[in-house]
Amino acid sequence: MAALKPVESQSGSSSGLTRWQLALAIGGPILLGAGAVYLWRKRTVSKRSERKAPEGSSSPVPKEDSGRGENEADGLSLLDRAQAAKNKGNKYFKAGKFEQAIQCYTEAIGLCPVNQKQDLSTFYQNRAAAFEQLQKWNEVAEDCTKAVALNPKYIKALYRRAKAYDKLDNKKECLEDVTAVCILEGFQNQQSMLLADRVLKQLGKEKAKEKYKNREPLMPSPQFIKSYFNSFTDDIISQPLLKGETPDEDKDKEGEAADIRGTERSGYLKAKQYMEEENYDKIISECTKEIESKGKYVAEALLLRATFYLLIGNATAAQPDLDMVVSMKDANVKLRANALIKRGSMYMQQQQSQLSTQDFNMAADIDPQNADVYHHRGQLKILLDNVEEAVEDFDECIRLRPDSALAQAQKCFALYRQAYTGSNPLQIQVAVKGFEDVIKNFPKCAEGYALYAQALTDQQHFSKADEMYDKCIELEPDNATTYVHKGLLQLQWKQDLDKGLELISKAIEIDNKCDFAYETMGTIEVQRGNLAKAIDMFSKAINLAKSEMEMAHLYSLCDAAYAQTEVAKKYGLKPPTL
Ligand SMILES: *[C@@H]1O[C@H](CO)[C@@H](O)[C@H](O)[C@H]1NC(C)=O
Ligand SMILES: *[C@@H]1O[C@H](CO)[C@@H](O)[C@H](O)[C@H]1NC(C)=O
Repeated sequence: MAALKPVESQSGSSSGLTRWQLALAIGGPILLGAGAVYLWRKRTVSKRSERKAPEGSSSPVPKEDSGRGENEADGLSLLDRAQAAKNKGNKYFKAGKFEQAIQCYTEAIGLCPVNQKQDLSTFYQNRAAAFEQLQKWNEVAEDCTKAVALNPKYIKALYRRAKAYDKLDNKKECLEDVTAVCILEGFQNQQSMLLADRVLKQLGKEKAKEKYKNREPLMPSPQFIKSYFNSFTDDIISQPLLKGETPDEDKDKEGEAADIRGTERSGYLKAKQYMEEENYDKIISECTKEIESKGKYVAEALLLRATFYLLIGNATAAQPDLDMVVSMKDANVKLRANALIKRGSMYMQQQQSQLSTQDFNMAADIDPQNADVYHHRGQLKILLDNVEEAVEDFDECIRLRPDSALAQAQKCFALYRQAYTGSNPLQIQVAVKGFEDVIKNFPKCAEGYALYAQALTDQQHFSKADEMYDKCIELEPDNATTYVHKGLLQLQWKQDLDKGLELISKAIEIDNKCDFAYETMGTIEVQRGNLAKAIDMFSKAINLAKSEMEMAHLYSLCDAAYAQTEVAKKYGLKPPTL
């Protein structure tokens, strides 16, 4: 059961946001994600298992004091003398005299017979501890390496070396060591888990930054694009062309239609036509024609082009277009509000929540009757963990558009999450009732069933959750995400790996750009111990990632799996599998 925790948090499903929202708008809720490949194993971290602060001055010395030389012939054996030197070193260490401590440990190392591996590794480890106090990281790493060579499962030495590598900015080696430590400790020590998590996140961030800059632009699947546009109801560019605007329909018309005919074969209207035909690759270039020829629809074209830049993951290109639309004071206010919503979401994705809030507030100022503003600002508020204000915004959206099923469903989910995290059973019941109302009043809204299913899964009402997913599939048979969720449910409910994987494969079959499916499959493969397969899946997901932040998260997962592979090779250590 624990196996599903990470997937849940990675998918961001717990935030109640849809996949594209996470991908395009957001990064925040992935928080836990990076270390999740490890973290799911963390059941309860007992206080007892806290490592006895090896770096502290109070107890720097390993307990393994054993091996008092049995065969002392006359006087003291070499081992005894080495032990004595070490004990002296420990005294210095406790007194904070690290230079002297190092001398004593060095003496101990010199005296110790080489076949006394246990003791010798302890002496090296202790000297590393003293070097650590002096922040001599290279020396720490070297001594730990010697200690580990003598005693490969020496947790203290591995952990100390991990910290030294961290200081030396050698993240890859650091990750391997800390991974070994986590496995040796059975994922029970919070300190090492946190280090692993931090290094994974840093590594992921660095790699994603590099890769994202140089990647090929990637058009998402048509399902994704449609779902994205469906989340806007009060904007112009996502509406179908009006009669008379259609390039082909105005052929025999006179007068005002002649205006349009000037641009009929290219530009914005053509772009809109491509949109209806789902011929998305050509939209940006048609918009550019409109903009460069200073046609009648420059503002629309800028906004549509920016939207597609965002969809292919190029915020750098989108921003100037959005800025332009926002600054066009005599453009239609709906266009400007829509540009502000999109720029606000973009800022959120870049973790600039202040700029983001500013844009959403400005959108509400200039177009206070625009339901989309409140809907999207509500989602931002959820990410900022402000459920109260989120609910206010959803309510405003619903007031303006009583038929806004999506806002209703998301409001329900926000309230449900609040009740759930606050362990308030009464409120949970109210939220569940709310979901029942949503699916009764909006039986065609797949999102309502999907969010309800997630809540039901939390509540372990698996069979009903499964029913809800089936409803979703009935309504949107080509939505791959639903199959992934249903697959996860099979794992959690019946521990049925085969059925789960089958559903996730089905998701990939429907939409081979479904990064969520690859990510989930990767996570399952990690837990089954199929690391190579997992890495392959994560790599596929990385290439499909829709934002740098999502990519960073996927790199973290991939690196975690890779580190486990290395550790398995080096030390023969394997984490427990499903
Ligand atoms: C798929 O379904 C989920 C849940 O209903 C929804 O959040 C998401 O937007 C849909 N995705 C696509 C691409 O239609
Ligand atoms: C994004 O757009 C900018 C400016 O148009 C361009 O220079 C850059 O190559 C694009 N990046 C990608 C990944 O397509």
